[in-house]
Amino acid sequence: MAFKAIVIGALGVIGRYIVERLEKDPSWEIVGVSRRQGPSRKSVHYLALDVLDAKACEQCIQSIDGITHVFYAAFQPTQGPAAGYASNIEANRDMLVNTVSAVVKNHASLQRVVLVTGTKYYGVHLGPIKTPARESDPRHIPPNYYFDQIDWLSSYQAGSTNASDRAARSWDWVELRPQTLCGFAPGTAMSIIPVIAVYAALSKALGLPLRFPGKHGAWTSLYQATDSAHFAEAAVWAALEARASNQAFNITNGDYFRWCNIWPSIASVFEMPWDQPQTISLSQQMPALKSRWVELQQRYDLQNIDYESLVAWPFGDYVFGSDWDVMTSTTKARQFGFHPVVDSEQMFIDLLTAFRRERITP
Ligand SMILES: NC(=O)c1ccc[n+]([C@@H]2O[C@H](COP(=O)([O-])OP(=O)(O)OC[C@H]3O[C@@H](n4cnc5c(N)ncnc54)[C@H](OP(=O)(O)O)[C@@H]3O)[C@@H](O)[C@H]2O)c1
Repeated sequence: MAFKAIVIGALGVIGRYIVERLEKDPSWEIVGVSRRQGPSRKSVHYLALDVLDAKACEQCIQSIDGITHVFYAAFQPTQGPAAGYASNIEANRDMLVNTVSAVVKNHASLQRVVLVTGTKYYGVHLGPIKTPARESDPRHIPPNYYFDQIDWLSSYQAGSTNASDRAARSWDWVELRPQTLCGFAPGTAMSIIPVIAVYAALSKALGLPLRFPGKHGAWTSLYQATDSAHFAEAAVWAALEARASNQAFNITNGDYFRWCNIWPSIASVFEMPWDQPQTISLSQQMPALKSRWVELQQRYDLQNIDYESLVAWPFGDYVFGSDWDVMTSTTKARQFGFHPVVDSEQMFIDLLTAFRRERITP
């Protein structure tokens, strides 16, 4: 095989899709890493490893041979609102440092590290930003663990952090900045698709129309999203495109939408009437409906996934609470050669329909 990837965070809403994308291409050998044990198969070998444990991380990475690419998509949230996740510096910086330094020290074969950050780089979690945000835009006032990750990675790659690493100049990095991933990764916190699907199913069971649960301003503001499979396509492009060396790229579906315009299509997937916003705190109000959800699972013979593993309400509050325009420019990625796009409205219809078809929601 031509390439060997190690995907860190391989069971997440990004990593899982990168693994699946790489599996389709026989030129990749794949190692997937997360603390939970993944389901190894012919083309993917999963390792259960806590990359916060520097010693265990180094030993484990030493025992693998010939890594050519790191896809870094590990992440640790904090308690509380999702807008605050960016301030969880220490764990998110150390996981990257432990992983990449172990690969660099033990794998002269390393060619590129693809680091997944996000549009919180521009402060979309703090309030209105300049639109569309471009990769060259200035940062916001810290804290933001993306800054710590990028600064460490770029200086380590340049060889300035440890001149004794002779391999330090033989590899490069690419940073990708997505917005609001749309995929499914049971047990991790960060997808809007299960939030919408479970909220819709419970609203229907309660005899309610599908009301937008977010802020009135979020209902009409411009927003953007990133299909996880599309993002995985971009990650593989970023791994192999020579011109992308040491560059950052915004990666989204490439279009923009307003929830007020696509909400009727979302309601139609669930065969429900829709209605105007009624702002609620999903984090505070939806956990109490767990027993209703269990009833629905039994009544409709749904997949047996825990309510807590299925959906992360704080992420819903974060996405539906952005009452300002959220737009980044994807022009740079296109200029550097990444051309695929996704129609966001159709993506929501397709992914939510798949949730029903696969008996995750009724
Ligand atoms: N999801 C989004 O909407 C979104 C949008 C923009 C940017 N991003 C960024 O994308 C990056 C990845 O996020 P994500 O949404 O893919 O996260 P995620 O779905 O929560 O996945 C995180 C992955 O990291 C693994 N992990 C966490 N701690 C670990 C540790 N100590 N050792 C090994 N593996 C560990 C998790 O598995 P285990 O729990 O089994 O360890 C999981 O596989 C983050 O920086 C995030 O800010 C995400």
